Amino acid sequence: MKVCVIGTGYVGLVTGVCLAEIGHDVICVDKDAKKIASLGKGKVPIFEEGLEGLVKKNLKKGNLIFAEDVGSAIRQSDIIFICVGTPPLPSGKPDLAAIDEVSKLVGESLNGYKIIINKSTVPIGSAKRIKKIIKENQNDESSKYGFDIVSNPEFLKEGEAVKDAFFPERIVIGSGSKKAIEAMKKLYKPIINQDFDYASSNTHKKEKVPVVITDSTSSELIKYASNAFLATKISFVNEIANICERIDANILDVTYGMGLDSRIGSRFMKAGIGWGGSCFPKDVRALGYTAEEYGSPASILNAVIQVNNHQRFKIIRKAMDLLGIIDDKIIGVLGLSFKPNTDDTRESPSIAVINKFLELGAEVRVYDPIVKKYPEEMDKGATITSDPYKAIENADLMALVTEWDEFSSLDFKKIKDLMANPNIIDGRNHLNKKDLMELGFSYIGIGN
Ligand code: UGA
Repeated sequence: MKVCVIGTGYVGLVTGVCLAEIGHDVICVDKDAKKIASLGKGKVPIFEEGLEGLVKKNLKKGNLIFAEDVGSAIRQSDIIFICVGTPPLPSGKPDLAAIDEVSKLVGESLNGYKIIINKSTVPIGSAKRIKKIIKENQNDESSKYGFDIVSNPEFLKEGEAVKDAFFPERIVIGSGSKKAIEAMKKLYKPIINQDFDYASSNTHKKEKVPVVITDSTSSELIKYASNAFLATKISFVNEIANICERIDANILDVTYGMGLDSRIGSRFMKAGIGWGGSCFPKDVRALGYTAEEYGSPASILNAVIQVNNHQRFKIIRKAMDLLGIIDDKIIGVLGLSFKPNTDDTRESPSIAVINKFLELGAEVRVYDPIVKKYPEEMDKGATITSDPYKAIENADLMALVTEWDEFSSLDFKKIKDLMANPNIIDGRNHLNKKDLMELGFSYIGIGN
């Protein structure tokens, strides 16, 4: 099938590459000319395992093209994916300017029946809004042709995006059109049946992928409610971790014991300094905004955000207990990305922690295995080091904020000699407490 993917962010790029890999002809378009030029040479601007290899492979095969002209890409395709950004406005409401602009272009460019699929995470009711804008912008020529709208949310996780795209746990299709639903099933057939080259070369268990067919509004809500539920699970566990600290219980044993109940499950039960990233913070706020807009109380959602905002600063409170006055103390921070295996620092808890330490007068040195550039929101007073040992040399405290694998295999004997005071606060319960205490560190985790 001829597919056009508008927007080459995380979702768009991974979707386009995945569809090309399973045999479709894909044009990925973006108005960022520099990005398109570099993607056309096989250079992927994000750190995502396996993605660059697949881009190069499909560019070479000729079934993946990167282009700038959105109108032309729409005209050449039967299926149009909208994958543009929906950043939050200060109110929490998502900014739909990019979605509106693309919908307008689709309206102007129709030259045959097309299926317009929305994969961006958009407010409830957006499928109807897109339809209205397309209709309003159809001209004499484009109004000769029909179109259908589908909501098809994306559930991929950064750092595991390629795997999630090829081996999804479900595919959600929200549309009122039988014709569009059948076309979507055809589009995803190799994935639904787990019958494509990449799957056969992978050890992943090959089971048919469940397809959820529903209306567009329910489909949009499935996306928001899923992210909000996962964020709730984490905030809940963090609240239990805080109780553990008061009553001298161990959150690691508590979550293990809870997770063995299959109704609860063991995933997304890691206590720490809270969730961040480009999705949970934005989506929980957006769902809360919708709830309030429609007069439905968002009490749980608001509490989930509140617990998370509080949790980010646990490291600071623990550091104050340990060090007293923070002014002039040297703090080595390990981790800058919002989670491991990605270079994404959007809403990273690490940045909030670093900025607070700086505000309190500390000297802060940061090491991250991948992030080497200063994130925009981070105070420039911090030093980014290229070596973890440089970050903690002469430090009064090592604060681990992102659980990169590499951090558990550091040479802690060497670290103990390098630090001015051997204090570790492990904001992700990532390190081996017993070993570190035996080495003479003062170790503080979260809820253990
Ligand atoms: C999340 C969802 O997991 C995806 O299903 C969804 O498609 C995506 O948002 C999206 O809407 O695009 P992502 O933001 O990549 O994916 O990251 P997650 O792996 O979900 O982690 C989110 C945050 O929760 C991170 O800060 C992570 O450190 C934190 N977390 C996760 C915990 O604190 N504890 C856990 O047990 C799990």
